[in-house]
Order: sequence, then C-alpha cells, then structure tokens
Amino acid sequence: MSQDRIIAVVGATGAQGSGLVRAILGDPAGGFKVRALTRDVNSDKARELAKMGAEVVAANVDDQESLTKAFNGAYGAFCVTFFWAHFSPDKEKANAKAMAQAAKEAGVRHVIWSTLEDTRKFMPLSDNRMPTLMDHYKVPHFDAKGEANAYFTDLDLPVTILNTSFYWDNFIYAGMGPQKGPDGKLAITMPMGDKKLPGISADDIGKCAYGIFKGGDKYIGKTIGISGEQLTGAQMAEELSKALGKEVVYNDIPPEVYRSFDFPGAEDVGNMFQFKRDFEQQFTAARKPETARALNPSLKSFRTWLAENKDKIPL
Ligand SMILES: NC(=O)c1ccc[n+]([C@@H]2O[C@H](COP(=O)([O-])OP(=O)(O)OC[C@H]3O[C@@H](n4cnc5c(N)ncnc54)[C@H](OP(=O)(O)O)[C@@H]3O)[C@@H](O)[C@H]2O)c1
Repeated sequence: MSQDRIIAVVGATGAQGSGLVRAILGDPAGGFKVRALTRDVNSDKARELAKMGAEVVAANVDDQESLTKAFNGAYGAFCVTFFWAHFSPDKEKANAKAMAQAAKEAGVRHVIWSTLEDTRKFMPLSDNRMPTLMDHYKVPHFDAKGEANAYFTDLDLPVTILNTSFYWDNFIYAGMGPQKGPDGKLAITMPMGDKKLPGISADDIGKCAYGIFKGGDKYIGKTIGISGEQLTGAQMAEELSKALGKEVVYNDIPPEVYRSFDFPGAEDVGNMFQFKRDFEQQFTAARKPETARALNPSLKSFRTWLAENKDKIPL
C-alpha cells in the first residue's frame, strides 16, 4: 500500500473533485491514494472524506504556497477553478496560474486541468452575434479557463487538458430544472434551438479523471473532451417527462431573452448556450461520449442519471 501514488484533488468536497475522490477510494487495488484539498478540514464534507479514507489537507487556490505544500509528494494533481464562487475571470486565471506553478514546484508527474474552450478562438470579440462581456470575453467562465490552459502548457507540465460538459446536476442544484410556465406546463428553458447539448453527471467527470490518471503517459500532453450523452432540449424534456411521470416541455427562447434573465451570470450563461448552439458541430465533436466511456466504463446516460436522481429535482 505504501507504494500507492498520491493524487492531490483540488475541489475535493465539490462536484468534480468528489467524484474523483470516490473513484480512487472505490478502487483500493488501483495503485493510487487520495489527498483531498479543502479550505476547511473540519467541515462536515471534509470529515466525511476523511472517514471514507482520504487524507484531508488544507489548501486554498488563492494561496499558492498552500497549494505547493499540498501538492508536495503527490504523483498527480487534479486542478479545477470555482468561477461561480466569485464571477471573476481574472481571479479564475490567477487561481489556475497558482495551481500550475505549485504543480511545477512540487514536481507533480501528471496534472489534470479541468477546463473549457476559449470561445474567442471561434468567435472573436468583434463578432456581434453575441455581446462582449466584461470588456474582454464572450463567455467569461469559458474564456478564462481556456486562456489559462497556457499556464499549464507554458511551464511544460505533464498535463492533460480536460474539457468538461454541462452537468445534468444543474437540473437539481442550479435552478435549471423544469419550472411551471404561464400555461401551467413544466418546461426546461434553454436557448439551444434544435441543437444538441453535451451533458454529463458531474460525478462522471471525476471518474473520467481517474481513468486519465490510470492511463498515465498515454494521456499526458493530450486534450481530452468528455460528455455522457448529447441531447437536444426536446430530447431532454422527453426523458424528464418519462422519468418524472409528468409532462415536461422544452422552451426554446432566443439567447438575448436568456441573457436578460434576472440571475447573476445570466449574460455569461446565455452566451454559453448560444456558443454551444452556434458551434454545435465543433463543440459536440470535441467531447464524445465514447471518449468518456473508454475512461469510465460506468459512464451514465441521461436516462440512467435521471433514474438515480429524479427525486432530487425540485419541481
Ligand atoms: N455547472 C456546470 O455545468 C459546469 C460544467 C463544466 C464546468 N463547470 C465548472 O466547474 C467549476 C467548479 O467545479 P465544481 O462544480 O466541482 O465545484 P463545486 O461543486 O462548486 O465545489 C467547489 C469546491 O471547491 C472548494 N473551493 C471553493 N473555493 C475554493 C478555494 N478558494 N480554494 C480551495 N477550494 C475551494 C470548495 O470546497 P471547500 O469549501 O471544502 O474548500 C467546494 O466544495 C467552475 O469553474 C465551473 O465553471 C461547471
């Protein structure tokens, strides 16, 4: 057991990281052990991870020294940022840079950087199809991550760039679940037209990351995109209807209407959906379910995810 290689997991109490923690702990013969990073080692979630068998250590992505300390002695590091905790692309980039530098200083041998596309490579700021946000971005929470890829590659880190997908968990936790419209019908609202939205169970992101660490060298220097299934809004509404036993319709609206919604980050999310709609072919091709399934054979389809989670969807 002492030969087991340590994987340090940023965001270990969160959606992506906890999936990786569970995947490592669930495979005791896999040759890895897990170091869970948290800001508060005494939180309920942190204690739960410790009880499950994880080494739990304090670290904050705002504090590079704490990251270097937490990465020391680790074979692998899973790096993720927390855009929705602060809504700041600058902060997200600074946090990514700190993780990359900490991984370099600690001599980590395999880094996974959980990221998303820089949409400005598809749609320059001068493109008026969607508004430029915060002066420098089209989709701030995508663009900052994509821009931050360079922090990892410029340091010549042994990195796998991991492009993730929309969590179906957003139907539970992010207020994106079915809501009653003026006609009394339950509807999911997304400005995706008839285009496919690649989605995934957040937990499967961690499981795929585990597959990448197990694959080792084969994935170092590679960019890998994952999704669980790629469905249109109408297809998701149909699956939701079946799972919930209640009719759910798909409410397709123009992106500009979505952007005008009254929740923090609505413009960013509206641009995100429009990007996924307008660049459907490139976006879906870059994150095929087959790729994810090869890393994680238990990858869930939307239907399987719904069967397990439908009761958690607030109606
Ligand atoms: N929602 C989606 O559909 C989706 C899809 C693809 C990508 N993403 C991206 O996923 C990222 C978030 O990942 P997630 O969903 O796994 O996060 P999450 O579930 O929100 O969890 C984040 C965890 O990270 C920790 N954390 C927060 N701030 C921290 C800090 N300053 N230093 C260290 N740890 C900190 C917290 O743990 P402690 O309290 O224990 O410290 C928290 O439990 C976002 O950047 C988002 O853009 C989201």
